Amino acid sequence: MEKINLEELYNKGIKMHHITNTAYPLRPTSFMRYKIKDELEISNLLKEDLANIDEMALYVHVPFCQSRCKFCEYAVVSGDDYNKKEEYVRALLKEIDMYKDVIGDKKILGFDLGGGTPTQLETDQIRRITEKLHENFNFVPGVEMSIETTPVIAARDYDKIKALYDMGYRRISMGIQTVNPILLKAFGREGNHSIYENAFKNIRKAGFKKINVDLMYGFLHQDLDDFKNTLEYAVKLNPEYITLYRNRYKGTKIASEAEGVSLDKVNKQYAEAHRFLNEQGFVAFFGKNTFSRLKDDYGTSDYLTKRVIEGLPYVGMGLGAQSFGYQYLAYNEGASTKTLKRYFEKIKKGQFPIQDIYPLPISEAIAKMVSVAFYFAFVDLDCFKKRFGVDFKEYFKDEIKFLLDRDLIEIKENKMIVTKKGMENVGGVIPMFYSKESKDELMKMDKMF
Ligand SMILES: C[S@@+](CC[C@H](N)C(=O)[O-])C[C@H]1O[C@@H](n2cnc3c(N)ncnc32)[C@H](O)[C@@H]1O
Ligand code: SF4
Repeated sequence: MEKINLEELYNKGIKMHHITNTAYPLRPTSFMRYKIKDELEISNLLKEDLANIDEMALYVHVPFCQSRCKFCEYAVVSGDDYNKKEEYVRALLKEIDMYKDVIGDKKILGFDLGGGTPTQLETDQIRRITEKLHENFNFVPGVEMSIETTPVIAARDYDKIKALYDMGYRRISMGIQTVNPILLKAFGREGNHSIYENAFKNIRKAGFKKINVDLMYGFLHQDLDDFKNTLEYAVKLNPEYITLYRNRYKGTKIASEAEGVSLDKVNKQYAEAHRFLNEQGFVAFFGKNTFSRLKDDYGTSDYLTKRVIEGLPYVGMGLGAQSFGYQYLAYNEGASTKTLKRYFEKIKKGQFPIQDIYPLPISEAIAKMVSVAFYFAFVDLDCFKKRFGVDFKEYFKDEIKFLLDRDLIEIKENKMIVTKKGMENVGGVIPMFYSKESKDELMKMDKMF
C-alpha cells in the first residue's frame, strides 16, 4: 500500500478547513463501500453489535422549527411537515419500542432530547416521549437529561419550561447565535434582548441550574467587534455554560459564503472569545467549544461528554438521527432528504427507519471517535485503549511523531492534548487520524462542497 506523505496531508487538511472538522466521514458518500441494505442483516447487525456493550447513551431528535435558519445544517422540518407533529410523535414512540429488545437492560449513561427544537412539541407530547424512554430503558440513577429549546419558546411559555423541569430535565440549551439584528434578519431568525432576558427569567424560575447558550462565529458578514458584542451580552445573561459553534457551511443555505471566510478570521474570533471568556470565569482548554463557569464540569451534557471522551456508543432515534454503536455507524431516514415521508413509511412497515447503515472496520471506528474528540481538544488514551483494545501511541506512531515535531500536540500523562498552534491548524491535525481510505479521499478532493 502506498504510504501517504503526512506533510502533504496536513497542508491539504488546512486548505480544506471548512470540512476537515469533527464531523467524520468527509462526505455522506464516503462510507458507501461498507453499506448493508438487507432488512434482516440490519436487524442482526444492531443486535450483535450492541451485544458487545453494557453501557451506552441515547439521543432523540425532534426536527420541528418555525422556519429553517439559513445557517442551519440539521435535519429540520418546517412548512407543510410542521403540521405533522402528532404523527411524528406516534412514529417516534414506535421506533423507541423497536429498540426495546435490542437495547434491553444496558445502562443508559446519557440522554439528549435535541433538534431541531424539541420544545416546538406540546408539553404532553414531550412527556409521552420521555416516559416511554424511561419505561423501555434502564436509565442509571443520576443521569442528567438535557434538552434544547429556542429562546423564543422559553420566553413565551413558562408552563412548558416548568413542565420540563418537573419531568426531570436538568440541563437546558438554547441558541442565541448572534445579537446583531442585521445578521439575525439575514438568517431569518427571531431574537432580541427582551426575548433572551425573558427566556432566562422563565428558565431560572422553573428551577434550572444549568443553562447553556450557543453562539456562532465564522460568518461572512460578522467582524470581530460584532462577535465581541455578542460574547459580552451572553456573559451578562449569566448562563453556566457558553458553547461556541464555528459555522459549518456544508449543506446550508449560505454554503456559497464559505469561500469568503478565511482560516485567519475564524482563528482570531475564537482566540478572542477564549481570552475574554476565561477572563470572565468561563473556562475551557484552548480549542474546546463549550466553556463552563462551574468547577469540575465540562459544561456539555452527559450524552456528549461521554460520547466524546469515552467513545460511549449511542443510539439515535427520530428523523435523521445518527447512531454510533460499538462498531457501526447509521443515519436515520431524513438525514439526506430532511423530510418526514420515508421515516413514516418505514415505521408503518415495522422496519427500523434507517437510511444508511455501515458496519465499520476498526480503522474507521477509530477515525470517527478521534475526530469527535477534537470537540474537547484532547484524546484520553486510557479511554481509547478501553474502547478499541489498541494502544493509541502505537497505532498512530508516525502521525504522533509528525505532530509532536511541529508542536501541534503534547502527550501529557494519559492524554494527547492539542496545542494552541494545533487548534489553529486543526483542519490539518484531524486528518492524521483518518483511515487510509479517508486520507486518500481527502488528498484527491479538489473542492470543499
Ligand atoms: C439544534 S440547535 C439549538 C436549539 C434551537 N433550535 C435554537 O436554534 O435555539 C443547536 C445549535 O447548533 C448550532 N448550529 C446550527 N447550524 C450550525 C452550523 N451550520 N454549523 C455549526 N453550528 C450550527 C447553533 O448554534 C444551534 O444553536
Ligand atoms: S438553528 Fe435551531 S431554530 Fe434554527 S433551524 Fe436550526 S435547529 Fe431550527
